[in-house]
Amino acid sequence: MIGPNITHAVIPVAGFGTRMLPLSKSVPKELLPLGNRPAIHYVVEEAIAAGIKHIVLVGHAQKSAIENYFDTNAELDSQLRAKGKDTLADSLNWLPEGVTVSMIRQGKPLGLGHAVLAARPIIGDNDFAVLLPDVVLDPFTGDMTTDNLAFMIDAFNQDKHSQILVDKVADEDVHKYGIAKLSDSSEINNEAGGNDGNASFKVAGFVEKPNLADAPSRLAVVGRYVFSNQIFDYLSKTKASVGGEIQLTDAIDALISEYGVNVTTMRGKSYDAGDMRSYMQAFIYFAQQQLVDDE
Ligand code: G1P
Repeated sequence: MIGPNITHAVIPVAGFGTRMLPLSKSVPKELLPLGNRPAIHYVVEEAIAAGIKHIVLVGHAQKSAIENYFDTNAELDSQLRAKGKDTLADSLNWLPEGVTVSMIRQGKPLGLGHAVLAARPIIGDNDFAVLLPDVVLDPFTGDMTTDNLAFMIDAFNQDKHSQILVDKVADEDVHKYGIAKLSDSSEINNEAGGNDGNASFKVAGFVEKPNLADAPSRLAVVGRYVFSNQIFDYLSKTKASVGGEIQLTDAIDALISEYGVNVTTMRGKSYDAGDMRSYMQAFIYFAQQQLVDDE
């Protein structure tokens, strides 16, 4: 049975982005360009394509420029229109009718789990998605209205199991991610993911940033989640662990033991815009795609 749709999403944006210094010293890393738009623009577009209507940014006092990016700049708007640049002015107000972006503060830097929990007063009793803005999915291939987040929302609606997007990573990158422990070894074949389409199956648990020797698979959490509202109850009970932070993966493990959770294998390619090397590769790729489009 198809249940009510997921219309709420949380995007945590409070982190300082130390891996992106000096670029991120005074400009929030989420506003650094990928081609001709700030990175977070693509993440919000992805959410909207998947049917999200209410986006909650969990921020920090020093990152109010992100909030401003999603607001109307009335002075700029009227100045552009007075000069006859209506098309440009319109393009700055690109959020579709009916989509809202709100901001709440995290207060203390206690980790990703704590950031997601900070959105609870706005999310209320709704089931919701989480998108980590460091991860930008390739918007030039595939179809955001059916792939990845959209697929996960569909899968959630069918059986109410929370969905976590995963993708295969190289051995040397395992220590940077949450790594999935599969419950059924026959699903190992699904580790390939790639362009064959998304697949969703049960997961036994996650290990946050393991050493290679302790990694239960090579399937890493990519930064897209669809959660049943129960995750908030687990987050409110989660204690700090890896890195002294309240980890989202610990709350997911608790959710798994009581309700079961699925992973969805990713379709297409993702970029880590919070890591300097990957960010530079992403910038070149996005710019190249847009230069071709302009020709
Ligand atoms: C977070 C999550 C991790 C996930 C990663 C994806 O880690 O805790 O499970 O694999 O995002 O980017 P962070 O990169 O915030 O340290």
